[in-house]
Amino acid sequence: MDYKLGEFDCGDDDLNEFLLVDAKPCLNLSIANTFILEDDGRIVAYFCLLNDKISRTEITGSRWKKIKGRFPKSKQFRSYPCIKIGRFAVSLDYRGKNIGSDLMDMIKDFLLKEQSSSAFRYITVDAYLSAIHFYEKNGFVQLNEKDENEHTRLMFYDKLVI
Ligand SMILES: CC(C)(COP(=O)(O)OP(=O)(O)OC[C@H]1O[C@@H](n2cnc3c(N)ncnc32)[C@H](O)[C@@H]1OP(=O)(O)O)[C@@H](O)C(=O)NCCC(=O)NCCS
Repeated sequence: MDYKLGEFDCGDDDLNEFLLVDAKPCLNLSIANTFILEDDGRIVAYFCLLNDKISRTEITGSRWKKIKGRFPKSKQFRSYPCIKIGRFAVSLDYRGKNIGSDLMDMIKDFLLKEQSSSAFRYITVDAYLSAIHFYEKNGFVQLNEKDENEHTRLMFYDKLVI
């Protein structure tokens, strides 16, 4: 279906532009798959999924022990497979109605049932600082105490922690 991508406004220019300009090329180049939630032809929200890993080199010592410590000694490796939520945005018109949280539940449900392809243990996201509360509310944990950059913080959700 051809959506009016330019009409989507989540209040963040980069996320709006990604949907308009980059989503299709990223899909065609197999870099990231974009999924759209629609309501009667209007785009309510979108998100992207791609493969990722959490590795020893990008995480401070004490935090890495928390990741590694979730595995038996014989399975303590230097990295673990993940799926990354590359982009996540809800339209301003639909904001604050729990749509973001419901969509996150749907993504988790969909991914946790997905057993047919390659394995992953964590769902990761480079969260905007302003969105950290949203992700924490949805079961994500901050990986590093400090930011990797000034705009985002790496967060993860462990699919095996109930
Ligand atoms: C973050 C975002 C996806 C939440 O979507 P939503 O449908 O409003 O979320 P929900 O209604 O399920 O949850 C709302 C919670 O998110 C928080 N929230 C609302 N607007 C927010 C915003 N602009 N930025 C961050 N958090 C926000 C609220 O504090 C609320 O928490 P509370 O229930 O404890 O009060 C949406 O605000 C958004 O698209 N923001 C702009 C893009 C963005 O920051 N995306 C994340 C990129 S990493």
